[in-house]
Amino acid sequence: MAEADNIKDIFAPTEYTAMINLFLSQNKHKVINKHVCEIGTGNGIIAANTAILGAARITVSDLEKAALSAARSCINEVKDATQSIEYLHGTLWEPYDNQVFDLILANLPHFPGENVMLSGRLPTWSSGGADGRKFLDPFIEGIARHLKRTGLAVFTHNCFVDLSETHAKMETLGLTMTTDYETLVFIPPVKAAALTHGVSGYGSNILNVGDYSFGHVRLAMASWPESSF
Ligand SMILES: C[S@@+](CC[C@H](N)C(=O)[O-])C[C@H]1O[C@@H](n2cnc3c(N)ncnc32)[C@H](O)[C@@H]1O
Repeated sequence: MAEADNIKDIFAPTEYTAMINLFLSQNKHKVINKHVCEIGTGNGIIAANTAILGAARITVSDLEKAALSAARSCINEVKDATQSIEYLHGTLWEPYDNQVFDLILANLPHFPGENVMLSGRLPTWSSGGADGRKFLDPFIEGIARHLKRTGLAVFTHNCFVDLSETHAKMETLGLTMTTDYETLVFIPPVKAAALTHGVSGYGSNILNVGDYSFGHVRLAMASWPESSF
């Protein structure tokens, strides 16, 4: 396999990617002329969609340099000359200094399992530590520092990672959070085997049908209470 194909494969999108993209496509007014940030951009497809939808500025970051190359190729295919794109390398909010954004997007690794080794993926793709919060919590804390008062943060949230804890953290930060959009995502056997409490340990947040398991996933949306974004 050519190296470019291999990179595309490693960073191939998922239903989580699609969930954010559907929201963006149905809410173009939240993107047009805005300054967008995507942490953990991977393939760059979500950020590229915001370019298509008319974002004015896009700042993306990832822990993996290879992801930033993949994102650059993807975004370059669709961006126009007036759009400014910035690529940052590093963990979570670390490379952002004190920049603030209209729209913050993320589909971060937050699968509750220490060793989620998916064939064809980098180890950094999905594991969120035992409770799934290893990256989620510092990401949430950073929203308060990097979201404009009129802005919106949209991120994927497994329901089998404690949503009430996320609500409580948002409230402590003074942010309002809603989780109106929900879907079911297939959990492949290798991920199911890595789940900290197993597929039966998360109540109705994981649907088990015979040998197959599906996780409930929501889109979390955070904003400041006074925002009408
Ligand atoms: C589940 S993938 C999502 C990729 C892409 N945004 C999508 O939705 O298809 C998670 C991405 O986050 C990156 N990542 C993992 N840990 C990170 C961290 N601590 N800081 C920034 N990015 C991270 C991974 O390299 C990967 O590209």
